[in-house]
Parts: sequence; structure tokens; C-alpha cells
Amino acid sequence: MASPFPFELTRMERSEEEPLQKRFLAYTEGLVRVQPSGYVMPSQYSKFADKYYNFCFREDDVVIMTHPKCGTTWLQEIIWTMRNGVDINTDLALDVRSPFIEFDSLEGPHLKPFQPTVDAFNERNPGRDHRDVGLHLEVTMRAPSPRTIKTHLPFAYLNPNLLDTCKVVYCTRNPKDACVSYYHHQRLVRCTEFIGDFAEFVDYWCQDLLTQGPFWFHVSEGWAQRSHPNVLFLFYEDMKEDILRELRRLDDFLNTALTERQLQTVANHTKISNMKARGTSDPTEAATRIGRFVEGEEGFIRKGESGGWSSYFTPELEAKFQKWMDKWAHVAKEVPFRYKV
Ligand code: A3P
Repeated sequence: MASPFPFELTRMERSEEEPLQKRFLAYTEGLVRVQPSGYVMPSQYSKFADKYYNFCFREDDVVIMTHPKCGTTWLQEIIWTMRNGVDINTDLALDVRSPFIEFDSLEGPHLKPFQPTVDAFNERNPGRDHRDVGLHLEVTMRAPSPRTIKTHLPFAYLNPNLLDTCKVVYCTRNPKDACVSYYHHQRLVRCTEFIGDFAEFVDYWCQDLLTQGPFWFHVSEGWAQRSHPNVLFLFYEDMKEDILRELRRLDDFLNTALTERQLQTVANHTKISNMKARGTSDPTEAATRIGRFVEGEEGFIRKGESGGWSSYFTPELEAKFQKWMDKWAHVAKEVPFRYKV
């Protein structure tokens, strides 16, 4: 039997919401907060929160859980490839191979979904409206095993039996690089369409006003589960430092039993330059063509550096960021982030 979502969803105060709506052009329908964490989502989330909370995972699912911009896409390509016989010749796009469970909550009504996905939905669900069912939710539900599922939702908002059912790879990244990356991302994608500069973005970040945050709330949820046998906790910086070492850890955790040579193939296949060169890994070209990405911004797969933040943060921004770190010190001091690799 389905359980109701156990947290309160409240509409953001107009005094906070209206200024945001002027700078993030996609937030026409408003924003909600999940209480007591203060987690921010576009208001469409209210329609789906129950469904995510009751989503039935399968034993052979692997869930990739991250705060946005912490290495999700890299891991999706790595894990999908490792779990699918090191198939480096697939012609399927990554978001088809590794569905994003809560994407329906992030897309405002102004965005036209990819028509072939809608057509396939209509064929499977005659008479049903994908906006009510959730296009991406349904795709995730129907995906064949073994599923490699992407989520930015924290543990608390997914089925409480998640870790009794399947494996979760949680990945995080130092918050300064994550913030720079999120800035570029939110300027790029039409489901946010941020039109301000970096200093303004840092201001929203430090007020925990950005969607899919607060960052530290998300990290605290992952960190609390890091020793669970069904969780592998990874740092983006460790992957940058020594990808083969991290691939071996993944191989162990996922029981994929790949040879050293196969792991090297995976490492090469998922190098940033190779992922950027493949439309099946990087959606930038296709999404820009159909108007889902803003032209002239940096691509979805961007620099892939650790420490790039240092050319964005002025001393004033560093001071602001530090204040925010101090506010969250009870979590921040627990997690050994590295700021340059
Ligand atoms: P930057 O914007 O700093 O370049 P997510 O997939 O969670 O949205 O994370 C996106 C970040 O991971 C981006 O960081 C992106 O460039 C980086 N990334 C994507 N693929 C990568 C790869 N194969 N190797 C290293 N970094 C990668």
C-alpha cells in the first residue's frame, strides 16, 4: 500500500520567490520547500513527491545519487558501461540508458518534452496524460533490468526500503567547484534559465535558495549512509585523481567482475574528451538544436576540473562562502572535501 509523503511541502514566500522568478526565467510556476530540511524544488514536485516516495526499486537496480554537478553523468556512463558488458558501441543516448527518475519535477510546462518519448508514452498508456503520470517516472518504471537510475533526490525523499532493496552509489564534490558548475548549468538549461552573473548566483547558493539544495543537507544524508553495505560513497576529486582505483572499487561494489583490461576500456570510454565527442553521452548539441539549452553557454559536459573555482571566487565571494560553510559547520567539518587535485 502506498504511504503518503511524510514531509510538509510549503510554497516559498512571495518575497523570496518573486525576485528569483525574475532571475531564473523558468520558475514561472513557483517554488516549494520540503520541511523541515528547506529543500527547494519547482512547484511541480508537489504532484510527484508521493510517487517518488513510493517508487518500487528492484533488487538489481543501481541508483546514482548526487547533488547536481557532482559527477552524475560521468558515473552514469561508467556504471552503465560496466553493467552492460562494456558495450562501448551503443547508439542509445545516456538518458535513455540511465533514466532520471524525478526529471518531471524539474521541467516547467513551458518546455516541450522530446516528442518520440511522448509518442512512446502515448502508445503504452492510451488515454493517459504524461503530465499527470510523469513521463520520466514512467520511463524509469518501465525500464528493463538491470536499471541504472539517476536521482538528485536525497535518501529521505525516496522509498524508505531503498537500501534494503538495491545498491546506491553516492557521489559528491567540493562545494566551490559544484557551485561554479551549477552556475553554468543553470544558465544553460531552459528548465532554470538563470540570467544573472556568478556573484549573484553565489548569493543564492549561500542563502540555500537554489533548487535541489541545500547542498549540505543533501551531503549530510549521503554521508550518514556511507558505511551501509549497499552504499558506495565516492568523491569526484578521487575519481579525477585516479580513475582506475575508483573503477576497481566500483567493480567490487557492483560485482561486475571486469578484468583490468576492461576497466581500462571503461576509463578510456568515459574520459571527458571522449564523452564530449559523443552525442550519446553529451546531450549539448541535440538539446541546443531543439531549444532545450540556451545557445552560446558552455556545454552540459564542461571542463571537468578540480580546483577551477579559484578563477571564479573573488576574496569577497570567498568570505561569503565561508560564512555559509560556518553556518553548516556541523556537517561541513565531517566531510573531508579536497579543493584541488
Ligand atoms: P564542470 O561544470 O566543473 O566541468 P553532473 O553530471 O553531476 O551534472 O556533473 C557535471 C560536472 O561533471 C561538470 O563539471 C562536467 O564537466 C563534469 N563531467 C562530466 N563528465 C565528466 C568526465 N567524463 N570526467 C570528468 N568530469 C566530467
